[in-house]
Amino acid sequence: MGNNLFIAVEGTDGSGKSTQTKLLADRLQAGGHKVYQTFEPTDGHIGKLLRSILKGQITADQTAIAAMFLADRLDHLTHPTNGLLRKLEEGYTVITDRYYFSSYAYHSMYVDMDWVIACNKACADMLRPTATLYIDVPPAICMQRIQATREGTELYERADLLEKIHANYQTAFDKLATEETVYQINGNRPVADVANDVWARVEACCK
Ligand code: TYD
Repeated sequence: MGNNLFIAVEGTDGSGKSTQTKLLADRLQAGGHKVYQTFEPTDGHIGKLLRSILKGQITADQTAIAAMFLADRLDHLTHPTNGLLRKLEEGYTVITDRYYFSSYAYHSMYVDMDWVIACNKACADMLRPTATLYIDVPPAICMQRIQATREGTELYERADLLEKIHANYQTAFDKLATEETVYQINGNRPVADVANDVWARVEACCK
């Protein structure tokens, strides 16, 4: 792997992280970077299965769901043509909308967080983000945004769950403070202001 950046963008549902991921990718591209923008759950076979579970079309045990997200991530990492490792080797700056911190925050509602972290160690050993950018928005605001913009809500898009996920992110960041580089960005501001802070963090990583 070369020295190019691997950035993970994290946040609760409704935090605006997908918007920020896109704006960051556009800005890097405009600056001459060769950018590969991607997301989890992926659009591969396992990712599609996960999306059916998130929509409530298929039911599954929460431990099995956590393991499926891990399988999807391993596939995301190692896929011979579209894999993160491959793209980095090819010289891309890679930006992913969600990575393993999502698993720590979401699945620890139902299964032990340390177990989720241990299961994902293979991913951390293979590829740790240069930086994880966490778009921090109060759960009540996220819920308002979800209700205003989405047609149907998904499995984890409930006010009480968002509170837990928000708290779990903080627990995970504290637990892994020595191993991971995490920047928390106040996402409860106009999109352009958040984007400028995201950019400042990434620019500093480029130096
Ligand atoms: P999201 O990233 O908001 O994508 P979209 O914009 O397509 O709705 O939704 C993905 C959902 O998957 C979100 O509720 C979080 C959940 N998730 C997990 O539970 N575990 C994981 O490891 C990942 C990557 C996502």
